[in-house]
Amino acid sequence: MSYNFEKYLCRFNIYLKQWYNTDSELVKKNLRLKEGHTERVIENIVELSNLLHLSERQKFLAEVIALFHDIARFKQFYYYKTFDDKKSFDHAEEGVKIIKENGFLNGISVDDQYRILSSIKYHNKKTLPIIKDDNEKLLARLIRDADKLDIWRIVGDELEKKDEPSISLGYTGNSKFNPEIVKLIKNEESVDYKLVRSTLDFKLVTLGWIYDINFRETFFLIRKNKVLDPILNSLPEIPEVLSIKKTVEDYVSKLA
Ligand SMILES: [Fe+2]
Repeated sequence: MSYNFEKYLCRFNIYLKQWYNTDSELVKKNLRLKEGHTERVIENIVELSNLLHLSERQKFLAEVIALFHDIARFKQFYYYKTFDDKKSFDHAEEGVKIIKENGFLNGISVDDQYRILSSIKYHNKKTLPIIKDDNEKLLARLIRDADKLDIWRIVGDELEKKDEPSISLGYTGNSKFNPEIVKLIKNEESVDYKLVRSTLDFKLVTLGWIYDINFRETFFLIRKNKVLDPILNSLPEIPEVLSIKKTVEDYVSKLA
């Protein structure tokens, strides 16, 4: 079997075109944002796969997962003008549906198609369920790490500069925070979006994702590329918040 990624990229690009058929600059801008995100998640997953010395087959499957993981985001913004799943649909579940309906994975064995779809379905869930198949588990973990690497970059770089409502999901304010979030992060527990009330809360929640990183190699990339620096440097000088900053920095340097 040859691993022809280009064939799948071509299917992706053809599918994408229809959503750009709009006069709305807001829609086009956000479609481009997700297109760029997809490209960078592919780069991240390739880099991680290389660091992990994965086989050619595993690398190919990982790349296809990265390519299609957010396929439903385009339809989501086109119709709902938001990336908030609570206000539209679960973009991972919808993505699986779109991939199946369009036969995007035709040419890949049934077992590997299952692994791809499962990894996409679980990429946005708070935690991964128990997965028995080792290949499936590896891929499901890879996409979660590769995705987070780019979301941290987006949150750090774009949120501050443009106060993008589509990125921050409409939250504002960089000084008030929910103490419950600080407590959970201190306890190394994952935080639910339901607790978010401000931009600062949103940043803290994304910082809490470090406890959900699956590979030491991901920590290596976080450190090498200074992925968290823009978010950490944008935090206000509030003692509780600064203590979270230190917790995060210590945790990363311990594992990188
Ligand atoms: Fe996603």
